[in-house]
This record gives sequence, C-alpha cells and structure tokens, in this order.
Amino acid sequence: GKVAVLMGGWSAEREVSLRSGQAVLQALQHAGVDAHGIDVGRDVLAVLEQGAYDRAFIVLHGRGGEDGVIQGALEVLGLPYTGTGVAGSAVGMNKLMTKQLWQGAGLPTPDYRVLSPGFDPVAVEAALGLPLMVKPALEGSSIGMSRVSQVTALPEAFDRAAACGGPVFAERWITGQEVTAAIVDGEPLPLIRLETPRTFYDYQAKYAATDTRYHCPCGLDPALESAVQALALTAFEAVSGRGWGRVDLMIDHGGQPWLIEVNTVPGMTDHSLVPMAARAAGLDFQALVLKILATTLD
Ligand code: DAL
Ligand code: MG
Repeated sequence: GKVAVLMGGWSAEREVSLRSGQAVLQALQHAGVDAHGIDVGRDVLAVLEQGAYDRAFIVLHGRGGEDGVIQGALEVLGLPYTGTGVAGSAVGMNKLMTKQLWQGAGLPTPDYRVLSPGFDPVAVEAALGLPLMVKPALEGSSIGMSRVSQVTALPEAFDRAAACGGPVFAERWITGQEVTAAIVDGEPLPLIRLETPRTFYDYQAKYAATDTRYHCPCGLDPALESAVQALALTAFEAVSGRGWGRVDLMIDHGGQPWLIEVNTVPGMTDHSLVPMAARAAGLDFQALVLKILATTLD
C-alpha cells in the first residue's frame, strides 16, 4: 500500500524531524515501498485525504506530532500508523506525567519539584540538592533544559524552560552512567551508553558534536544490562508505548537505574540512537524501518 511518511511539523524539533524523516523516506523507497514524504502543516488532514494513503509512518518529534495530536487525527481518518497511540503519546510527551505514572507503578525515577512563577529556589535546593536539572515538561532533544549548580542560577533556568511553554520542573541530578534502551516491536535492543565532555547530553551533543562517545555494546555487566532492558520495557508499557520507542535512563554509582524519560518517536537521523542500537542487533537501517512499518499491521 501507499505510505505517508509524516515529518517536519511545527515543534521546536522540526529540523531534527526533517532529518529523521528524509532518512526513513529514502530507506522505504530503496526497499521498494510506495512511500511519500509529507512536511506536516496545518493542512495535513486535507493532504492525507487527497493522497489516498494506506498507512502513515510518523517521524514527527515534539508537540503536535509526538503528543497524540496527529495520532488522534489519523484515528479520525481511519489510517493505521506506526508507534504509540493517542493516550500513550500524550503522556510520553509530558515528562511530568510520565514520571507521575512511573511513580504510581512503583518504578524508579529521580525526585522532582514542579516550578511555578515565584517559586522559592532555596526550598528547591533543600529538597533536591545541587546540581539539579531544570526541564520544560513538553520539549524534546534537551531544548530548554539547564543543569543548575548554584541556587542563584535557578530563576534564570526556570525562565529558559518556561519560555518553551507548558509546565517546568526541577529534577534531582543522578551522577553515574547515561544509557538508552531502544524498543522495537516489543523487544529491547542492546543498550547504548553515552559519554559527553559537555555538562550533559544537550542538543549540540545530540545532533552536531563529534565529541560524544557512544558505547554499544554498552560495557555494563550483562546481568545489569538485562535488568535495565527489562525495566525499560516495563516503563515503556507503563505509558502504553506501542510499536517502537526509546527509554532514557541514568545508572547511579550503586548500580541503581533511574528512569528519565520516554520518547515515543525517537530520532532517526544519522546521529541517532535507535538506528545505532539496531545495527548492534544485526538490523541495518532499512530492515529497522521495515520492521517498524510492519508494526502498523498488528
Ligand atoms: N526527541 C529526540 C528526537 C529523540 O529523543 O531522539
Ligand atoms: Mg525526549
């Protein structure tokens, strides 16, 4: 059938999505799939109806594309699509709701405080310690995030996150190893361990820098790796994740994994992590994309 590859959109991650989308589109076309790229705008419903598509491959990151909005529209059109459904997408895009859901399920996620205008920085420091992370709840790719190591820097970090729109929270800093678990068709792929000389794995480190080091195989003790993979899968299912996704975690020096966030439409650029983990599992980019597409047939 005819496949619409949805990319671009209007979120702050638009450029990343265009890169991800082009890669997916090319891979599908090389595999002989009748795939067409759509740079998603406000006219997307008309474009999809006129195109008479049979399926949609969603490669939209961020608000409007990864948060249940497009998923709901596709449900209205009756068009099967890749990845997580409406509710899971809405929760997954919201880092605060995700953490609340994980806490409710008894899963480990770092302690946090919601920040509102006029918040007391000293109380936040007393609760979470320093350094800490300040994050907008509704962004991706580390946009609007700051690592704060002095209490006096908290208000400015709040303003930066608040400028993204949506809720803002402070999260306890976990010292240790950063790992990510890709999940494709109900199976966790090998973990990737990330090392960056920057203060954290920020937008530059994700998409531009050449100084980020990726370890896959991750080098963790195999029993720990299996436990983290199982935790990631449980965490993905706790937010109703479906088809494919990526769960980001920190592992502290005591070997305790902490769930940071879930991405229901993870990056698929040449710098991205899910394709890297798939390669380690013997799945090249084209095979990965076809496997994700096949999940729409379930
Ligand atoms: N939000 C970006 C695209 C990622 O998680 O890969
Ligand atoms: Mg994210």
